[in-house]
Formats: sequence, structure tokens, C-alpha cells
Amino acid sequence: MFSNFDEQYTKSFKYYFDVIMRPFSRFILKAIEKVKPLELEYICPGHGPIHKTNLRKAIELSEKFAEEYMKVVSEKNQMNILIAYVSAYGYTKEAAHIIAEGIQETEGITVDITDIENIALEELESKLIKSDGLIIGSPTINQNTLLPVYRLFALINPIRDKGKLGGAFVHMAGAGSHQILYWKTSASEA
Ligand SMILES: Cc1cc2nc3c(=O)[nH]c(=O)nc-3n(C[C@H](O)[C@H](O)[C@H](O)COP(=O)(O)O)c2cc1C
Repeated sequence: MFSNFDEQYTKSFKYYFDVIMRPFSRFILKAIEKVKPLELEYICPGHGPIHKTNLRKAIELSEKFAEEYMKVVSEKNQMNILIAYVSAYGYTKEAAHIIAEGIQETEGITVDITDIENIALEELESKLIKSDGLIIGSPTINQNTLLPVYRLFALINPIRDKGKLGGAFVHMAGAGSHQILYWKTSASEA
């Protein structure tokens, strides 16, 4: 109710947009077109803060954020595959580069090979947004994958990333060095 759009409020407004609303940008822009000509007294969304002041500011900012997101999504004219990996001793990294070489034999595909061990989540998410396909690589440590991979899973958004290609590879002692043990690609709608 206190949408004064001071520095702190604007920061929180943007944060809310980024973590909740962003995947719905296309629908936000359509809704804004309908709302713009109306005389507004309140904005009471089904999800998120109610506004009774600075209504036009709330609309303007939402429109700006949604347009920025749609620009990133639509500007791509070629397919981009994100190979996100973690590697303690370098074998998974090596496998990531071998896979990238193979993919790049096909024209019109760019590959972004990213070590995700220490990457900021915002940076990783923006790479995910730009990707049409995601391939994840991890060594097996104590019969498990590593925390950065779980963090990456948490960033995958079922609404935004639905239908993207997916693949995974793992490096483990039992198979010997330089072996890709598991490789799967699908265009699941789930
Ligand atoms: C502490 C530790 C635990 C490991 N646990 C497993 C395991 O449970 N299963 C397995 O197959 N390999 C295991 N390995 C072997 C690694 O998965 C293997 O060395 C892998 O190739 C490392 O990949 P990287 O070079 O990308 O770090 C373990 C290695 C270490 C150092």
C-alpha cells in the first residue's frame, strides 16, 4: 500500500519482478496495454503488492522491466547452448569442451561453456535466460553431484524454460578419465 517508489521500494519492486513476474513478461505487456487507457484508483493484482499511490509509476516500471526481458529473449537469431559444469580436477571441464566442439560443428549454434562453481546466481540466471538448451556436467563426489549443480536446478524456471533442450554428463572414477558416461537430450514439455 505504500508504493512511494523511493530507492528501497524501487529496489524491492525490481527484485519482486525478477524473481516472480519476469517469466510472465509477454502477458504483462498485453495486460498493460489494456490497463493504460483506464482511470485507475487502485491496482490490486492477484499476486504481489496492492498500489493506491504512484499507479502510473508501477505500470511504467513493470512495462520497462518486461520489455527489457522480452528484448533479451527475442533478439537471438541463433540457437545458444549453455554448458554449465563443475570440475574439481579438470576432467569434467575437459569433457565440457569436447562436447562444445561437437556441438559447434553444426552451423547456427553458439555454445557458452561456463564453470558454475563460483558464479553469481544473477549471472547464471541471465545465461539461462539466453539459452535454448542446457547441458549440465558434474563429477560424482561421494555418490552425489555438487552444490552448484543443485543451485542451477533451483534457477530453472518451469514457465520460462519449458521446452528447452536438456542434457547431462558426469565424470566418475569408475569409468576412467575422459569418459562421458551419460548423455541425454530431450525436448520435454514438462
Ligand atoms: C572425495 C571424492 C569422492 C569421490 N566420490 C566418487 C563417487 O562416489 N563415485 C565415483 O564414481 N567417483 C567418485 N570420485 C571420483 C571423481 O568423480 C572423479 O575423479 C572425477 O573424474 C572428477 O572429475 P573432475 O576432474 O571434473 O573433478 C570421487 C573423488 C573424490 C576426490
